[in-house]
Order: sequence, then structure tokens, then C-alpha cells
Amino acid sequence: MRSSQCIFFLLPFATAWPYSKHQGYGTSTIQLHENLQDAWYTKYTKDNQSEVTTLPTKNRLAVPGDPTRVYSCVGPRAEDFPGQDKWLTLDQLWAINEPVIETVNGGSTYNDDLQIAIKEVASDSKVDARLILAIIMQESSGNISIHCTETTACGLMQHRGSAPFSAYNPKISIKNMIEDGIYGTPGVPGFLSYFNCDASAPSELTWVNTQLINGNPYAAAHVYNTGHIDDVNLSTDKGKSNYYAHDILSRLQGWNGWKGGCEKSRGCDRLGFGKRHCW
Ligand SMILES: *[C@@H]1O[C@H](CO)[C@@H](O)[C@H](O)[C@H]1NC(C)=O
Ligand SMILES: *[C@@H]1O[C@H](CO)[C@@H](O)[C@H](O)[C@H]1NC(C)=O
Ligand SMILES: *[C@@H]1O[C@H](CO)[C@@H](O)[C@H](O)[C@H]1NC(C)=O
Repeated sequence: MRSSQCIFFLLPFATAWPYSKHQGYGTSTIQLHENLQDAWYTKYTKDNQSEVTTLPTKNRLAVPGDPTRVYSCVGPRAEDFPGQDKWLTLDQLWAINEPVIETVNGGSTYNDDLQIAIKEVASDSKVDARLILAIIMQESSGNISIHCTETTACGLMQHRGSAPFSAYNPKISIKNMIEDGIYGTPGVPGFLSYFNCDASAPSELTWVNTQLINGNPYAAAHVYNTGHIDDVNLSTDKGKSNYYAHDILSRLQGWNGWKGGCEKSRGCDRLGFGKRHCW
């Protein structure tokens, strides 16, 4: 079962991409808009405890007994997806994902570098650390030396044009891979560029229906995966099933990416995942 985990890499930007037109992404000085931070960003205090842990116990999600079998059938519209009060805390999610990260990297050597880099990029960009972790796990299972795809999507976040891992500089190269996925690379927007698409603000992402993103992280995740968004129903993309946003939500609720959760998703009536292939 462990080895089958690694077959599950989703290719972002599988479709045609108008990237010559859009230069200038990749600047790490941008942050999530303030109004979106209020809704979607949780700051970590000095001891790195999520403020979400201060929620009354009855409002907190419990760690799932079996993370291999978690899947959320919520959706399919972005507005149906839950807020961050329905995500596990970073500590809970790290505990669930750390064994996977350790397995794919053949040991725990890079665990701390990865965790620290996620927290640093979250604190700089104001993209919640849990979202960053969920996207990393979805894209690469945390395999720091993962190869590039044919579409040159590279690195931990499988982002086009992303820097590779460097054994000479593990700490910095791990952080660079995460920054590339969040801020983007020259010509290729990152997750933050999509997340910041707010119906009220003009956007340079002219080929994306930014009204459909409207500051919603799940819709932004959908676009991070496909490069576009054409429907309020996030489980569909150009007439085909799309699992990405639902997988991200499920990971935020404790799915570790293994087969059982995928199989469970087939039973989600409103999502139309009945024919999903589960490695
Ligand atoms: C909290 O995380 C930061 C990195 O973001 C790290 O430098 C620091 O040592 C951590 N503190 C504790 C108490 O774990
Ligand atoms: C991690 O990526 C490397 C480089 O592509 C690959 O050789 C290795 O098999 C991957 N690890 C796992 C467990 O898939
Ligand atoms: C969402 O899209 C999927 C795939 O096209 C479809 O099977 C499902 O019925 C749709 N759900 C709703 C509620 O429209």
C-alpha cells in the first residue's frame, strides 16, 4: 500500500497555457488580500500552535481514526465548501502527513526543513500553512526530489518552471520550491495569484473567470490544477470529472491521500465521481 501512494501525482496545467503573455509573476512581495486573510489565514503563535486550537473543543474536528479512509462529499460548488473552522489544525495535519513524507523521502532527514519552510512561506504570503501542506501532498506527496513532468511541472508543488531540489542546499531549495508554487514563476502564476482573484478587484489573469474564483481557496486550487475555471461545480472540468478541489478539502480534514479515501469519493452522489480510477 505504501508504494502505491506514490503513483498518485496530479499534473497541474495539463492543458494549453497562454504563458508567453503573462510575465511578472514570481514576486514574493505579494500577500493574500487582507479581507481574505480574515477568512482564510490563521497565524501561528510563537510556539507554533494554531489559533484554531483555541476553538472550543466541541467545535474542533477530531483527528480521523483512519486517515486512509477520509473523504468529504461536500460540494460541488465552491460556496458549499467549508471554512477553515472545519479544517484540522496544522499540528494535526502534520502528524497525519509526516509518515507519508518520511516514506517517500526514505527517512526523516528533510522533515524539519519542509515544515519550517511551509510555515515561513505561510507567514510571508499569508496563505495558510495548512493549504500549502495540502497542495504539496496532493502534488508530490512531499517527495523533495520528485522529477518534473513532461509539461515541466517541477518540484514539491509541481509548478511549471519551479526550481529543483538541491542536495547542496536542502533548506533553501525546499523553500524555493514552495515559493515557486505559491508566488509563481516568471510567466506562470502561482496559487496566490489565483487565490487573490476577487470579483471586486481587476485581475491581470484575463483568461481566467475570476468571478468564479472570488477569493475562494478551493476554486483557486482548481485553477492551480487545470489553469482555468468554467463552472461553479468544482467537480467538473471541461466536461470531465475533476477531483482536485475535493481532494484538497479532504486532505484539510485529514485524508492522507491513500486509496481508501479515493474509493470513498466514488460514493459521493452530487460529485459524480462514480467512475473514478483509484490506482
Ligand atoms: C516555530 O516555527 C519556526 C519556523 O517558522 C521555527 O523557526 C521555530 O523554531 C518554531 N518554534 C518552535 C517552538 O517549534
Ligand atoms: C521520489 O522522487 C524520486 C525522483 O523522481 C524518485 O526516484 C522516487 O522513486 C520518489 N519516491 C517515491 C517513494 O516515489
Ligand atoms: C457536478 O458535475 C459533475 C460532473 O459533471 C456531475 O456529475 C454532477 O452531477 C454535478 N453536480 C451538480 C450538483 O450539479
